[in-house]
Amino acid sequence: MLRHHEIAEADHRILNPFTEEKLRLLGEVSRIGPGTRILDLACGKGEMLCRWAADFGSAGHGVDLSEVFLAAARERAVELDVAGRVTFERGDAGRYRAAERFDVVACLGATWIGGGLTGTIGLMRPALADGGLLLIGEPYWIDDPPEAASEALGFAPGDFASLAGTLDRFEAAGLELVEMVLADPDSWDRYVASQWWTIHEWLRANPGDPDAPAMREFAAASRRSYLAYNRRYLGWGVFVLRAAAA
Ligand SMILES: C[S@@+](CC[C@H](N)C(=O)[O-])C[C@H]1O[C@@H](n2cnc3c(N)ncnc32)[C@H](O)[C@@H]1O
Repeated sequence: MLRHHEIAEADHRILNPFTEEKLRLLGEVSRIGPGTRILDLACGKGEMLCRWAADFGSAGHGVDLSEVFLAAARERAVELDVAGRVTFERGDAGRYRAAERFDVVACLGATWIGGGLTGTIGLMRPALADGGLLLIGEPYWIDDPPEAASEALGFAPGDFASLAGTLDRFEAAGLELVEMVLADPDSWDRYVASQWWTIHEWLRANPGDPDAPAMREFAAASRRSYLAYNRRYLGWGVFVLRAAAA
């Protein structure tokens, strides 16, 4: 699956349903500034760390499994002249043990690293400095989905909740939701529909590649499930959280 994503998202910088504008807005509402230290678990191509370092003067460390994405992250850091302030390492973010505390600990679009939202909150918290922020990018159901939706989208039925149900999950974990930025249908299209083009072009250039049949299936399933269910029922946002007052 990782290989499929590396091919499908070869032309993406942001590997989630946010546009550059929404990513910048998230940095603003999270009060990212000079010296803010950020740990990004499952950082992908590191666009958040690099862009925020360039725009807001922050610093940070990213962990991801994909060497392909990490190579792009390191290149981007050089391109934006922030390589002195952001670092990247390959590893399983679900097993990552931070040697220091961070002002912000982020996990955008990968809460499977901790076996779901609650488990991922549990593994993010030890890396967080007192008073720091957790940024969690997570899907939510916009409307009650038909039974077939979870299966078509590759989720277990209870993996995600409504927005209010997601709030319940945060509160049950002892967190207060202090801000959020949500994707919208147009920004979802930029994330998903643009992958169809990338795969289409890759298949034209690599018709005999051993991954070609799987990529054809991947694109076909993505198109169908996105149009049938994702676009209507599934939202995505980044939730800005702080430990609730005792
Ligand atoms: C949907 S992408 C999100 C990437 C990035 N957070 C962003 O929003 O641009 C999911 C990322 O999780 C990474 N990943 C998946 N499982 C992982 C794991 N166990 N540890 C670290 N990274 C993982 C993938 O390589 C991919 O970069």
